[in-house]
Amino acid sequence: MTIVSYGRDADIGVITIDNPPVNAIGPALARELAAALDAFQADGDAVALVVECAGSTFVAGGDIAAFGSPDFTAGPFNATLQRLSDMDRPAVAALFGTVLGGGLELAMACHGRVAAPGTRFGMPEVTLGLIPGSLGTQNLPRLAGLKTAARMISDGKPIGAEAALEAGIIDALADDPGQGARTLARKLAGSPPRRTQDLPVPDRDQAGDVLAGLKAAADAAPWLATPRAIHDTMLAAVTMPYDAGVELEQARFAKLVASPQSRAMRHLFFAEREARKIPGLGRETASRDVSRVGVIGAGTMGAGIATAFLNAGFAVTVTDATQAGLDRGLSIIQGNLASAVKRGRMTEAQAAKTLDRLTLGLDLSAVGDCDMVIEAVFEDMALKLDIAAQLGAICRPGAIIATNTSTLDVDRIAAATARPGDVIGTHFFSPAHIMRLLEVVRGAETAPDTLQTVMGLARKIGKTAVVSGVCYGFIGNRMAEVYMRESEALQMEGASPSQIDGVVQSTEYLGMAMGPNRMLDMAGVDVGARTVVEWIAGGEGPTDPGYRAMCRALYERGDHGQKTGEGYYRYENRQPVPSEKTAALAEEMAAKHGVTRRDAIPDQEILERLLFPMVNEAAMILDEGIAYRPSDIDVVWTAGYGFPAWRGGPLFMADEIGLDRIVARMDHYAARDGDPHGYWTVSPLLRQLAEARASLTDWRRE
Ligand code: COA
Repeated sequence: MTIVSYGRDADIGVITIDNPPVNAIGPALARELAAALDAFQADGDAVALVVECAGSTFVAGGDIAAFGSPDFTAGPFNATLQRLSDMDRPAVAALFGTVLGGGLELAMACHGRVAAPGTRFGMPEVTLGLIPGSLGTQNLPRLAGLKTAARMISDGKPIGAEAALEAGIIDALADDPGQGARTLARKLAGSPPRRTQDLPVPDRDQAGDVLAGLKAAADAAPWLATPRAIHDTMLAAVTMPYDAGVELEQARFAKLVASPQSRAMRHLFFAEREARKIPGLGRETASRDVSRVGVIGAGTMGAGIATAFLNAGFAVTVTDATQAGLDRGLSIIQGNLASAVKRGRMTEAQAAKTLDRLTLGLDLSAVGDCDMVIEAVFEDMALKLDIAAQLGAICRPGAIIATNTSTLDVDRIAAATARPGDVIGTHFFSPAHIMRLLEVVRGAETAPDTLQTVMGLARKIGKTAVVSGVCYGFIGNRMAEVYMRESEALQMEGASPSQIDGVVQSTEYLGMAMGPNRMLDMAGVDVGARTVVEWIAGGEGPTDPGYRAMCRALYERGDHGQKTGEGYYRYENRQPVPSEKTAALAEEMAAKHGVTRRDAIPDQEILERLLFPMVNEAAMILDEGIAYRPSDIDVVWTAGYGFPAWRGGPLFMADEIGLDRIVARMDHYAARDGDPHGYWTVSPLLRQLAEARASLTDWRRE
């Protein structure tokens, strides 16, 4: 199949790229583009060239899947871009859709650019642990100025067509960019083409400030390779001849593309897209129409969920059992909108319009006309069952009933509604209007169109959704449970909360945004403890009397974390400081539960004991079919739990460490400490993969 063709439109040569879905540049496209350029150069009758794309967008970047292949190199594509730039007849790019990465680099190698209004321009390579690698680091500053180029390359966020015009990235806007490009090409024909590489960087006099900012960013995150490479290539753009700058860019790009960090981030790019694909559902699966959403419970979670839907343009009805609860919920929503205004995300007028879509009610019947109702009362099974039964009767036929829970049995709640096909679990993360992850819990009887609708809604409200089956804690909290179990066991053995958090947060070991103890203190020890207590009381939790003894004891003592000033840490002006009281509690709990104390616990042991049981739990989650695929688990942890994207998620990291090593260390701890509760029992799947030297990330259900 031809991906790139050359033809003539009157006196204009036209190269057309047609490589669905997004015209990404892979080795074949690079080869055919070179041949198409040969054809234009052999066609002496064409006065100028237009480069355009078929389909829904101009080139949206390099083919990310090809970056991993051993024969991938940017060389041939870059040579073609250089040849394009060096031509003696002008080339104009006709732009629309998303002009990203290699697409923008292709456009910049042309001599003119015309874009449709609504086109987006960006350099998202940084989100893949890369820098632009096809002359972009040297050409963008010459077109847009160093400040704009540095910002676009550093934050990876696209800009709109108007901003691109103002910045000098494009020459004109046209409703029909193909025609606009032909008009510009004819205008430029006959004069020597203006090469981007020959332009001076317009704001080079103010380069000092920009470079200082880039250096500060690189110094602040020395474990990341991209900020340093961005600084160096931006410096090159203002201090080196073009060719030397390009040479530096090439060397840096080649190193980055082979780095584990970039491999990890590319893995996540595809993982997030894969997570949207649900076995058994397809384009043919029906979706239900949802325009009004009901939220039951106006607490922090309910108000956050309401804000997320209001922001996405939905009409929302919030109910609460008391007027005081409703008042509080309204003020949280107003606060959320005010902070969006303050951050420049919306105008005052937009915030007011958004709030106009909100209705409040004291009675559950207020949600009777909603297309979807999300019950977001606190984590109490009896309460949730009672509300579920009422919603089953109140909600109009065909309405979806979602229960927002982080641990509870969605199937029991579904049964209580007497219409389980309409029921689904949603596990939002707090603050719900900001956190990216949404775990969508598919019950045993959830209807396919219920699931399809909720996955679509998740995208509309800007969430990264991952489907989980029903089990205690679903994917994320089930794994977090073993992680916190070990954190508390280590405290009883003699490690301090700050040593544990230090290991977890250190980029040398892991690099999570926040360690487990700081996280629990922030979220509320009471919240965590109540869930564990209820789990155990329900008869399905662990029978080990020392299980998460620290959390339970802190709860009983009333030390609920930041909000009470004491928890795993003591808080002085909201800053955590080591707490002698908690250290004494750890000793007391160790004595009570027969745990041997040690003088020092190595950091490496802390990492292994927190991470490896989590990986083991993930293998069980896969084996049981709770998660569809390993990469879903990596998405859950990176999008919802602060696991660093540059590590690719816990399973990608496990493969990097080596499954054989993980299994050997699990066996070591089982042998050293005994394993009365099965905490160190290796899952058959994990052991089998380790023995076969296979990858966990690549595992697929037969
Ligand atoms: N390389 C390879 N595949 C790509 C790709 C790329 N640069 N960009 C998108 N795709 C694929 C996606 O994997 C997806 O495939 P699938 O349908 O098999 O899952 C498909 O194209 C559509 O992408 P998706 O993200 O689902 O569509 P969208 O309309 O929401 O967004 C883009 C389109 C182009 C904005 C978005 O895909 C994107 O940002 N792509 C990355 C661009 C990039 O980083 N370019 C620079 C690379 S160095």
